[in-house]
Amino acid sequence: MPRHVAIIMDGNGRWAKKRMLPRFVGHRKGAGAVREVVRESARRGIEVLTLFAFSTENWQRPPEEVSALMQLFLDALRRERDTLHENNIRLRVIGDRSRFAAEIQAAIDEAERLTANNSGMVLNVAANYGGRWDILQAVRRFCAEGGTLDSLDEAALAGHLSTAGLPEPDLMIRTGGEHRISNFLIWQLAYTELYFTDVLWPDFDAVAYGEALADYARRQRRFGRVEADDA
Ligand code: IPE
Ligand code: IPE
Ligand code: MG
Repeated sequence: MPRHVAIIMDGNGRWAKKRMLPRFVGHRKGAGAVREVVRESARRGIEVLTLFAFSTENWQRPPEEVSALMQLFLDALRRERDTLHENNIRLRVIGDRSRFAAEIQAAIDEAERLTANNSGMVLNVAANYGGRWDILQAVRRFCAEGGTLDSLDEAALAGHLSTAGLPEPDLMIRTGGEHRISNFLIWQLAYTELYFTDVLWPDFDAVAYGEALADYARRQRRFGRVEADDA
């Protein structure tokens, strides 16, 4: 069982298009899949779940779609906060939140504060997140704290990333059929097992998730070493 699962939740638009529905209906349906995957992850004892909800590149979508996504994000923060708390889940939003509207920033603060002391699963929601942004902000903060070139090493950099203190993802799942990282956790995914499925995000349920986890269980992770049997 992976300790940390990271997911690129892709395919909402195509899910809607197939049904001749507007894209935001796909996003709304996708929010339901988020709920199911969060519940299933906690049930299976996953320690950290990181969900890619909105990338730094997604601002380039039509303004109506961006506002629909922002509204969904705000609704979800307000609606799910108490359920997350009841389930002992710690919510963290990773990404540059300064670009969000004040009410979204307030809802993020509120949900994070409410769940801050929970000891169960950590749920990272990557919003206005980009892997390149993450590395840059880490280096900038390191320097701002007086970090010197001599003391900059992999641990120091990792310790300033938005995922600092958490294990690196063991499994990265991308739904929706594309085989790319799209500026997700580029530093953190260095040794992660990758799983791609054609299932569109709104259709990704506990069964599809179980298949991904079963696939992961069959993988042999070597981290550059030889197989244990040959050592
Ligand atoms: C993923 O679904 C959701 C976000 C990126 C916010 P898409 O909206 O990218 O769906 P497709 O890829 O167009 O089908
Ligand atoms: C990646 O999906 C971002 C999220 C799921 C939030 P995109 O749909 O934005 O990625 P591309 O454009 O296909 O690379
Ligand atoms: Mg997409």
